Amino acid sequence: MSTTPPVDIKRGLEGVIFTDTNLSAIDGEAGKLAYCGFDIHDLAAHANYEETSFLLWYQRLPAQAELQMLSNWLRANRRLPKMVWGIMHSLPDQATPMEALRTVASTLSMFDRACVHAEEGGSSLCRSVSLTAKLPTIVASFDRLRRNRPPVEPRPDLGHAANLIYMLDGKEPDEVSANALEIYFVLLADHGMNASTFSARVTASTLADVYSAVVSALGTLKGPLHGGASQKAMEQLLEIESLDPKGDYRKNVDAWFEKQVAAESRIFGFGHRVYKVEDPRATILRKLAHDVAEKTGNTRWYDMAVRLEERVLAHPYFQERRIFANVDFYTAPLLHALDLPLDLFIPLFAIARISGWTAHILEQQHNNRLIRPRAYYAGIRDRTWECIEDREPMVDAQPDVRCIAGQPANCPAALRLPVVAE
Ligand code: CMC
Repeated sequence: MSTTPPVDIKRGLEGVIFTDTNLSAIDGEAGKLAYCGFDIHDLAAHANYEETSFLLWYQRLPAQAELQMLSNWLRANRRLPKMVWGIMHSLPDQATPMEALRTVASTLSMFDRACVHAEEGGSSLCRSVSLTAKLPTIVASFDRLRRNRPPVEPRPDLGHAANLIYMLDGKEPDEVSANALEIYFVLLADHGMNASTFSARVTASTLADVYSAVVSALGTLKGPLHGGASQKAMEQLLEIESLDPKGDYRKNVDAWFEKQVAAESRIFGFGHRVYKVEDPRATILRKLAHDVAEKTGNTRWYDMAVRLEERVLAHPYFQERRIFANVDFYTAPLLHALDLPLDLFIPLFAIARISGWTAHILEQQHNNRLIRPRAYYAGIRDRTWECIEDREPMVDAQPDVRCIAGQPANCPAALRLPVVAE
């Protein structure tokens, strides 16, 4: 019988404020997001990703010459160190792009031992610029290598998004596609104390280096309750389409939605810990997804998404819980219309979020305190030690048999602790 803990446990840390930040402000009731005081709608309309990164790193807008300088640094840092190519080529065939990104981003630290500004506290910023510049190269090169195509050299004359599409396709993208992806990067650059940013700050708070903090963030982003939701949202649309390919998409959506509601399954791309109205990024991404779909002449995926959103918003279950489309929902038809592979969706989120992660790491370093919360101990207390000979096995353990995957009796999971009744 479990007892109620005598403390108020915030299991998901909801509502817990552990630091102050000058980076992004979210108003979950008004549906507003601003970076360093600039509304996301203004940034999407006026800033490119480089300017947004400047804003997050320096907490002010750059003058023309300053932006040019940062742009030059970013573009000059896009190439990977020669030794990294050996690692890229030796990744196993079954590696996913996110695994490749996490692994290669981690190895970059071993090729970086010096920074001329280190003594002025500049090295973390230099590393932030370097990682921001290199993440797209890692993702695009991995994608080409797995398709048996040679990696494409980055082009310093192209912007952040245009260069990424170029490195993926080997062709310069059209303006609509490049702009749409650039705006996507701006929209996703930062978002308060989301799970991956928190991971990055926890790691940075131990005084670990920028690479380690970014690798923590990459691992955290992957899950479907966070960055993985955009891929899941697209998989939902693919599943809906598979019900009757080329049939009436409305009927497909309706049938899928009813089934999902009856099974009480989550619908990815909806709901948010902070927003209780529409996520302002979803508003912009809906329009972008529409524009890119129109340009391609195929609006079916976009139309399907709109229909699904209509069904969700009209349903009392979602209305009662104030569940609306989040950033990941319209990301799905947008990235699909840009012809980007499904398993690049999470790496693309990482490519966007890296400037926010690193800005938070810099902020943490600037005013550091070890992040070290506590847990309420709910286990058994004051147990008496028993000699191993006196202990009864709780499962049919066969220690002399090799663990074979798929045979639970012989695998470590078989020794899982049963729930102990008090
Ligand atoms: N579909 C169906 N029911 C939902 C959904 C959903 N997408 N989201 C929340 N609920 C329900 C949930 O079942 C719960 O119901 P009840 O009160 O009956 O138990 C209630 O709404 C509250 O949900 P919660 O999980 O306690 O709320 P949370 O603040 O932890 O939720 C969330 C945040 C993002 C984890 C959740 O909304 C979710 O799982 N959404 C789907 C995954 C997703 O789209 N994630 C992307 C998040 S935004 C971008 C990012 O962080 O990357």
